[in-house]
Amino acid sequence: MPKLVIENLHDLSIETQKERTLLQNIQAAFIDWMHPCGGKGRCTGCKMQVVEGGEHLTPPSPQELRFMEQGRLRPQERLACQSRLLDGCLKVRVPKECRLPHVHYSLPK
Ligand code: FES
Repeated sequence: MPKLVIENLHDLSIETQKERTLLQNIQAAFIDWMHPCGGKGRCTGCKMQVVEGGEHLTPPSPQELRFMEQGRLRPQERLACQSRLLDGCLKVRVPKECRLPHVHYSLPK
């Protein structure tokens, strides 16, 4: 089963279902994750910085490609609501601008 590790949430690890987006998997594990547009690919609030294993993700969606063209998604950034993990292990970080005030993140990155 694919595995997601969130580095700056104390290396929290969850097993994921490849039929679900990463945001859906994160929510199913009761992890708070910013998603201002409700997972519709309209806001970039659910960004993740890919640390390792990006090759296991589905290709960027049209919404992600548009944000990349606009410079709103940097290299190594993906949207949790638009990507699915097909296999293997993916390690990500929550970028600074996407952190929630009530969540304790483990690295000052
Ligand atoms: S929740 Fe808005 S783009 Fe993912």
